[in-house]
Amino acid sequence: AFLFPGPATLPLTDPAMTIRHFLNTQDWSRPDLDALLAQAHVFKRERLGDQLRGKSIALVFFNPSMRTRTSFELGAFHLGGHAVVLQPGKDAWPIEFDLGTVMDGEAEEHVAEVARVLGRYVDLIGVRAFPKFVDWSVDREDRVLRSFARYSPVPVINMETITHPCQELAHVMALQEHFGNPGAPATDLRGRKFVLTWTYHPKPLNTAVANSALTIATRMGMDVTLLCPTPEYVLDRRYMEWAERNAGESGGSLRVSHDIEGSYAGADVVYAKSWGALPYFGNWAPEKPIRDRYRHFIVDEQKMALTNDAVFSHCLPLRRNVKATDAVMDSPRCIAIEEAENRLHVQKAIMATLAGS
Ligand code: CP
Repeated sequence: AFLFPGPATLPLTDPAMTIRHFLNTQDWSRPDLDALLAQAHVFKRERLGDQLRGKSIALVFFNPSMRTRTSFELGAFHLGGHAVVLQPGKDAWPIEFDLGTVMDGEAEEHVAEVARVLGRYVDLIGVRAFPKFVDWSVDREDRVLRSFARYSPVPVINMETITHPCQELAHVMALQEHFGNPGAPATDLRGRKFVLTWTYHPKPLNTAVANSALTIATRMGMDVTLLCPTPEYVLDRRYMEWAERNAGESGGSLRVSHDIEGSYAGADVVYAKSWGALPYFGNWAPEKPIRDRYRHFIVDEQKMALTNDAVFSHCLPLRRNVKATDAVMDSPRCIAIEEAENRLHVQKAIMATLAGS
């Protein structure tokens, strides 16, 4: 399998960091993740609270969003708090992240000032910053998120960069609801057969949700298959190694497969996502004909019929009849809408926990 030739164990969090951020689920213990999920289940039953009364969050978006922006803004409102949305380069000043730069280009201020100033106004900072898709060796450093975490005096929440930890918890919550008994929301997912399938998309997309899906599914002890067209679509070695380690600790498993029928056979969960192949970051032209050959990875009724009556999900947005068919999306086995709703509840749990800490 292709492994990105970079340091596998690069710490994404500064070991000297004293503030508790939510940058990756991998930084959080399993009991702490379970506590977030338990709180999210409570928020789903009891929508309103005062955990953020008099508190506020800055939501810094470098990329578009529908679900993340709406659910964070409303989540803060439901808990008595307030959200401020900033889009640097659009309605806020463009930001510089490099140190030692002579700032005579587009950027009007440095993240060192932005994070510290925001920290004087708000209690939490959320950051969405996708890769630039030019050089994965640069993108995999997650520089924007880590810069905010480095300079911010208040907790920082990852709203999707090279991972999407809020989506991870929303997905797990939806699986717990689906496979659980009423009154026992913290359902054990160990032993469930989980397939993360690559799907076609006309553009090369972020690997964040795929990285996250492998990370959390193995953390929860599921038997995980990464189904992708060729070894070039295997994910960055950091996330493959996280997943392998998680599987070892949780009693789950991880395998990579390029066999569609074999992967779907007996699956309990099918999770779909499209992503660009890492070796082609910065030179996408040769990747396009490869990707175009694998349009048949679309999730359809024939493939779902091979499963153990699996549930299907996707983080959304999703192009119908490209990634999954209308029949799959409209099936009662599709839990993508439930997962999207759960973004609201898990993010309230994250905000309440971090703002109270
Ligand atoms: N899934 C997700 O993060 O959706 P948005 O991009 O709309 O926020």
